[in-house]
Amino acid sequence: MNAFDVVIRLVYLAVATCFVLGLHLMNSPVTARRGNLLSAGAMAVAVAATVAVLVQAGGVQGWAWIALAAGAALGAGLGLLLARRVPMTAMPQLVSLFNAVGGGAAALIGVHDFVLRGSSLPVVLDVLIGGVTFSGSLVASGKLQGLVPSRPIVFPGARVLTVVLVLVMLVAAGLSLAGPGGAVALVALAVAALGFGVTMVTPIGGADMPVVISLLNAFTGTAVAMAGFALGNGVLITAGALVGASGAILTKLMADAMNRSITAIMAGGFGTGDSTGDQAPGTGVVRALSADDAAIQLAYASRVVVVPGYGLAAAQAQYQLRELAELLEGRGVNVAYAVHPVAGRMPGHMNVLLAEAGVPYDQLVELDAANAAMPQTDVALVVGANDVVNPAARRPGTAVSGMPIIDADRAKSVIVVKRSMGHGYAGIDNELYTAATTGMYFADAKKALAEITAAVKVLVG
Ligand code: TAP
Repeated sequence: MNAFDVVIRLVYLAVATCFVLGLHLMNSPVTARRGNLLSAGAMAVAVAATVAVLVQAGGVQGWAWIALAAGAALGAGLGLLLARRVPMTAMPQLVSLFNAVGGGAAALIGVHDFVLRGSSLPVVLDVLIGGVTFSGSLVASGKLQGLVPSRPIVFPGARVLTVVLVLVMLVAAGLSLAGPGGAVALVALAVAALGFGVTMVTPIGGADMPVVISLLNAFTGTAVAMAGFALGNGVLITAGALVGASGAILTKLMADAMNRSITAIMAGGFGTGDSTGDQAPGTGVVRALSADDAAIQLAYASRVVVVPGYGLAAAQAQYQLRELAELLEGRGVNVAYAVHPVAGRMPGHMNVLLAEAGVPYDQLVELDAANAAMPQTDVALVVGANDVVNPAARRPGTAVSGMPIIDADRAKSVIVVKRSMGHGYAGIDNELYTAATTGMYFADAKKALAEITAAVKVLVG
């Protein structure tokens, strides 16, 4: 090994260490930004080192340089533009799109390696996992963006088709590895994997979407790690393994939190497509509140639990929420925030939003703790949340059945802030809104919280 190789290996080792450290720093909202920067910086160094290796080996000549530079500039430019422009609420579809790009790139590396060196286990796994991730993530992104219906789509024979595609993938993978006819088998594998990605994600909707997105994230990491094996690039293996492992842990946590089985979700979204139209057994009567009504309830409460949801993010009302909470705390009201694991549109969405507004982390309570204290809670202030507080989850036969919810309906009284009686992500009615203890404040969350805050100020002088 010459001096150049030694330096490159040391650089890769340092980069891999930075990735691990970066992930560790992301454990806390206080250090997360630093973790992100460290990992991104390390990735830039890894790319530079890889280009240096290519140059040293004489692997890039003539037009290849132009293609490399143009590809890098286009990719980096697009990534930067998208990341800067995308609103926080559209982050999940962007992440899904990035997953698709990662999976697709890994699959192409597999194909390239096949052309150069023939079939191998990493090549086959790369094409398989990368293909599934590419098409599955595109469908998931389309669902989140509203380009594809977000409800579960099940057509006759869908499950049979899924099973056939799995069989084709297994046989094609075996044939590709076995030798002759490997190219035809690899093409069949790629087509079946792309098809499976689509049939895996289309029947999923409602409460299962978050699980499938983090699963696809884990797939991307695994596909990238396989690409690392195919290329013999250690840092790609490390980066892919880290993404794969953290994605897998997140998937398990999300599936547990949602009371879902990962295998069942992958096998065709069992339990998600059987909504019966959900006839909610609420009172049927909607009680609309004025700002003064809401202010009186909140100002004279001992304990208020805020339940934030997607609408808080859509309205960007986190600062108004904190202002109201501080006003109440100043009066001696005990305020806590009950954060559901899938509230919003991406894992940790509410945590990020509340941290952005400077809400102290120790005021955030998890689902079980929030529910245990709910009967002693005077007011559950539900801001832009719908599915995560929908009591329909406790009954079979709805799009959210089985999902643990925040038991806002078990608080002494409930104030719901949203614009209308409109549905949430799962697209079903919510009987919480017509419960006898619930008052509805119909307005955009930012405007509503500002009005309620003003009313509390007038009330308490
Ligand atoms: P949702 O059930 O989606 O409900 C959000 C509610 O916010 C809507 O009913 C909407 O009612 C209201 N809203 C929208 N804009 C608003 C605004 N500007 N001001 C006030 N309210 C506004 O949200 P959730 O309770 O947070 O549940 C999340 C759902 O998304 C779950 O079904 C979950 O499975 C799914 N999901 C989650 C993720 C992750 S990882 N978190 C990823 C994908 C899908 P109005 O239109 O009447 O205002």
